Amino acid sequence: MVRGHLPELATAADVSAISEHIDYLVIPAFKGDTGIEIAGGPGQALDKQYQVEMWKVLTAVGATGAEDEVTVIPGDVLAGSGIEADRILAVGLGSSEEITEETVRQAAGVASRKVKAPTTEEGDKRGAHVASTLGILGTEAALVGHALGAYRYSGAKAATPGVDKVTVLAQNAEDDAAKKAEIVAGSVAMARDLVNTPANVLYPESYAEFIRTEATAAGLDVEILDDKQLEEQGFGGIIGVGKGSARPPRLVRVSYTPADAGESTPFVALVGKGITFDTGGISLKPGANMWDMISDMGGSAAVVASIIAAAKLELNVRVTATVPLAENMPGSAATRPGDILRHYGGLTTEVLNTDAEGRLVLADAIVRACEDGPDYLIETATLTGAQMVALGLRTPGIMGSIDFRDRVSMLSQEVGEKGWPMPLPAELGEALKSDVADLRNISTTRWGGMSVAGHYLSNFVAEGVEWVHIDVAGPAYNTGSAHGYTPKRGTGVPVRTILAALEDVAAGNATNTGTERG
Ligand code: BES
Ligand code: MN
Ligand code: ZN
Repeated sequence: MVRGHLPELATAADVSAISEHIDYLVIPAFKGDTGIEIAGGPGQALDKQYQVEMWKVLTAVGATGAEDEVTVIPGDVLAGSGIEADRILAVGLGSSEEITEETVRQAAGVASRKVKAPTTEEGDKRGAHVASTLGILGTEAALVGHALGAYRYSGAKAATPGVDKVTVLAQNAEDDAAKKAEIVAGSVAMARDLVNTPANVLYPESYAEFIRTEATAAGLDVEILDDKQLEEQGFGGIIGVGKGSARPPRLVRVSYTPADAGESTPFVALVGKGITFDTGGISLKPGANMWDMISDMGGSAAVVASIIAAAKLELNVRVTATVPLAENMPGSAATRPGDILRHYGGLTTEVLNTDAEGRLVLADAIVRACEDGPDYLIETATLTGAQMVALGLRTPGIMGSIDFRDRVSMLSQEVGEKGWPMPLPAELGEALKSDVADLRNISTTRWGGMSVAGHYLSNFVAEGVEWVHIDVAGPAYNTGSAHGYTPKRGTGVPVRTILAALEDVAAGNATNTGTERG
């Protein structure tokens, strides 16, 4: 499997502490009432005189400091200052009075994306070393934003150099700030890589092996059930969806137990949809844009990347990840509309549309995950086109237990993944009743499809478990152009929301209040 590229991260207290050659010095610029404003570096690395010089040149070339604006000027402006940088890249953040962590992450991402690989004396391209003073506005935000913006995925093409190293100037940075940011960005990159990998390379068996390798390397326990075991153990949803494909399904379980775990250690179960390709099955999708369905395993990629990051960060929370992997194909053995499936745990579903397959595999996985008695269940999936109709392409819909849903939504906002709380109106659940099974897999009406799917899943969540369902149909995969720290294709959403929620539970901030779902 082809992996994307990420830069190495470091912090430095002062520019003078950087021994390596600097290709780009990134500085923040703001939009003031009377024109562009710039900030000094930490410890005022730049004398007032040089700040004035930079300001003059930036003003002369028309830079305004508006959000996302990038202006590159020659490093000569700093001649004599003791700072040797080939180029200065000023990135706009808009008004200096409205700076949030997310503005800093976005600006850092934009800056990284605009860096052009320098040319060596031999005429070859080489990776750039970027030093950045964005750290004065938030060290971790600058590190993560720079790293995520520098991510590159080349697929079957030869990789081209980009940013190899980012040193963020931060006076009081904790020693492990760069290491932590590397873990977070690394897990987002893993999710992006998995989503970006086409379905002829990433299918249930190869995906399960990838998880085994990566999770084992991080010291986690891994269990893989193959199609025979799934059949024997009654995972009728996963089998039913996987039957139409020559590539049989899998269920992968990963678990992380902190070294000093005890009775009081909180326990979070993660579940993610892992449809390695979704043709719709017998209810076949139209051809246009069907290729985007390589991203239909984005939920599973996020939970796998998150549990690995949780282990590397040594979070004080017990975590399991349960990922059902299947390819939804219309082969001659495929499930037909009208077929009834029996899920793990015994509930039955009348399948009226084989394209509503995600909920069928998730049902089995949720029941299995709840069997271990978690306090919380975080489940995520590229589940419905209705998510995009309701919220657009960049806003995950978060449903489930009311208190936990609101808490996870707030954390998602903080990390910039923008998840928003959505309701589960009772009447939408009623429309999932079947005459011949416990449930039908599509509603009797066309309205509120995202919440209908949420309702369907709630039938499989055990009593007493605080649950959220995060629908990332749009946000997991960017079919438009790159923006901020988000590249084209796989975005890695909602990895940082899940990590923030795990950190929050580990810190004891969330409490299982047993709130109702709604
Ligand atoms: N994987 C799709 C949802 C999706 C669509 C994700 C577009 C990303 C982009 C899911 O399996 C699906 O097909 N859902 C159907 C459900 C319907 C048949 C009730 C949908 O949303 O159309
Ligand atoms: Mn589908
Ligand atoms: Zn799907």
